[in-house]
Amino acid sequence: MGRTNRKVMIGLAIPVLVVLGILGVMNIPTASNQGYAPEQPIPFSHKLHAGTNKIACTYCHTSVEKSAHATVPSVNVCMNCHTLVKTDSPYIKTIWKHFKEGRPIEWVRIHELPDHAYFNHKRHVAKGVSCQTCHGDVANMEKVYQKSPLTMGWCLDCHRGNTTPKEVLARVYPDQKDPHGPVAPQSCYTCHK
Ligand code: HEC
Ligand code: HEC
Ligand code: HEC
Ligand code: HEC
Ligand code: HEC
Repeated sequence: MGRTNRKVMIGLAIPVLVVLGILGVMNIPTASNQGYAPEQPIPFSHKLHAGTNKIACTYCHTSVEKSAHATVPSVNVCMNCHTLVKTDSPYIKTIWKHFKEGRPIEWVRIHELPDHAYFNHKRHVAKGVSCQTCHGDVANMEKVYQKSPLTMGWCLDCHRGNTTPKEVLARVYPDQKDPHGPVAPQSCYTCHK
């Protein structure tokens, strides 16, 4: 099935499912790439960079606080350090080559929602949901993998306040002693535009 067809089908399915949801008989199937850890063109270690060398996530993932997408850094960012650091390494030589030829490194995308689902990084980061909550302990990962299921149920569990980290609940309900309750909208149109 083509992506467009799928999008149209889901567009049609949503009103129907809303009704079923209201009737309380909704049972939506879910797909997940949990655990996905593809081979990358260069073995880039988050453990070495974000862990041992304590480089901030936002140093490389610059747009995560400003836009819906997090983005992966361009070769220029690598060259901020690797014009001097570890220049004898064959991997760094490959990165140099990309830099000089103006060719991006083709990193394999790991986390990816289907086209019909909408996610926004900025909104989550602004409410204090940490990278670790959704992506796991990346600073200790030699190789990044998809830690969370990223299914609709997983999203909703937190929006409803069931699996929400305490510090996020405390920000949403500053006046409660034992903060609880929903933290984000749950209507279909929040995540399906
Ligand atoms: C020195 C630069 C650098 C730093 C610092 C860094 N990253 Fe990355 N990140 C990358 C690169 C390059 C990739 C793509 C290669 C890969 O997946 O390993 C990536 C990939 C990722 C991905 C997977 C993207 C996808 O395709 O789904 C996540 C999630 C991620 N980083 C989170 C983090 C978090 C959280 C931190 C801080 C703890 C962090 N990164 C720090 C450079 C960096
Ligand atoms: C803020 C500085 C900094 C930035 C930016 C940075 N690195 Fe590094 N990188 C390091 C340090 C420090 C080491 C460890 C060097 C050592 O072991 O002596 C390293 C090591 C590496 C190694 C291991 C080399 C080997 O053969 O042992 C690879 C591969 C690497 N970096 C890739 C990248 C890529 C790809 C980027 C851009 C996405 C990047 N680095 C951005 C500082 C940086
Ligand atoms: C509430 C959960 C959540 C939080 C918090 C979160 N992410 Fe993500 N991240 C996701 C989802 C979901 C995707 C897939 C988005 C898509 O396909 O549209 C993703 C994708 C990514 C990607 C791949 C590029 C992209 O934008 O699709 C990177 C890199 C990334 N995240 C880094 C980070 C970093 C760094 C932080 C912390 C500053 C962070 N994320 C916080 C859920 C989260
Ligand atoms: C760990 C908790 C958590 C998880 C997991 C989570 N969210 Fe959220 N989400 C939040 C919080 C907190 C907000 C901020 C609400 C606000 O700004 O008032 C939010 C806001 C949003 C918004 C903006 C809502 C608006 O008002 O327009 C969207 C869209 C969204 N989330 C989609 C998703 C999707 C899609 C997923 C799953 C892939 C997801 N979220 C997973 C906690 C979470
Ligand atoms: C907080 C975000 C969020 C909200 C709110 C939400 N969804 Fe979803 N939905 C997702 C995500 C993410 C996916 C893709 C992952 C998956 O299939 O579980 C998805 C997938 C789906 C699918 C496709 C399932 C499949 O197997 O391909 C349908 C249909 C759907 N949602 C309908 C709805 C309806 C109807 C509502 C309102 C009652 C709703 N969604 C509310 C995030 C959300």
